[in-house]
Amino acid sequence: MPKGVLSNADLEKLVDTSDEWIVQRTGIRERRVVAPGENTSDISVVAARQALERAGVDPADLDLVIEATVSPDHLLPATACKVAEILGAKKAGAFDLSAACSGFMYGLTVGAQFVRSGMYRNVLVIGAESLSRMVNYEDRNSCIIFGDGAGAAVIRPLEDCGGKHELLDFHLGADGTGYEFIWRPSGGVADPLSAEVLEKKGHFMIVRGREVYRFAVAMMTELVQKAIEPYGMAQLGFIVPHQVNERIIDAALERLEIPRSKCIVNIDRYGNTSAASVPVALAEAAEAGSLEPGKIVILVAFGAGLAWSYATVRW
Ligand code: UT7
Repeated sequence: MPKGVLSNADLEKLVDTSDEWIVQRTGIRERRVVAPGENTSDISVVAARQALERAGVDPADLDLVIEATVSPDHLLPATACKVAEILGAKKAGAFDLSAACSGFMYGLTVGAQFVRSGMYRNVLVIGAESLSRMVNYEDRNSCIIFGDGAGAAVIRPLEDCGGKHELLDFHLGADGTGYEFIWRPSGGVADPLSAEVLEKKGHFMIVRGREVYRFAVAMMTELVQKAIEPYGMAQLGFIVPHQVNERIIDAALERLEIPRSKCIVNIDRYGNTSAASVPVALAEAAEAGSLEPGKIVILVAFGAGLAWSYATVRW
């Protein structure tokens, strides 16, 4: 995570909000933000190096680098190419993947297909965002939610991982009827950057929070139910959900009748970091010893697009 901290008290100075409102409505106390000159590629490289080191994989042996992000360094070309170059992944293909909060999960799923088919042996998937660069700090509806961060994983054949952390199932879904629920209306080809766009702040992110709230509770509940169905609730070890809002996570857990002790919530420290949210939470859950070998771990994400995903892993 980047070192800069943006607390609720800091936001109180920027917009008409309060620490009490933010904590009650979202569970967020502070977020991390990139420093001036620090970009998505920089935090991606830090996360990638940690993942490669833990996996014992040399960057030169990577076959593919997937960068899941909606806040790339530049709109052109792919941040993944820059990251691969800095890492020394000389023989790897590299591309960016845009699936917002579900980005890491989409990347994991895409990368796993290359490994399963036997075409590739080492795929690096990074979920990274510098959302602080596209948040409107005059809009209290959105600016309190988001933070920056990066997480990464190396996907390899099961035999290279000592038979551990097996990806059993996955699911990808999308529904463009919610295209404008979380979006940046301008800056793309539909409404290119202009003085007028900057004036009306159309290049910043806009969030229709209540619509997303309803969608997110329903989707998290449905996806976890679907994911655990083939194995049975008794096999469930842990849930690593997209850190969207503490209330959303709690509401879904209540509907699922799953205790909070089986789920990681770190949104209090990081806010919603979109594509970085799941890999960072997964790393923290693993470090805390919350993931029991042999048990089912469900990764689940949902967000802009709308797009959603789950992955079932035998830890
Ligand atoms: O990962 C996907 C992206 N994430 C999302 O899209 C977020 C999903 N949605 C949410 O997390 C919640 O809907 C929010 C945190 C965005 C908002 O919480 P809420 O409980 O749905 O509040 P609300 O939008 O219904 O607003 C309640 C009141 C409103 O005032 P009135 O109309 O009742 O007088 C808002 O104007 O709270 C007001 N409000 C605020 N007050 C203080 C909205 N934002 C703020 C704020 N500080 N930052």
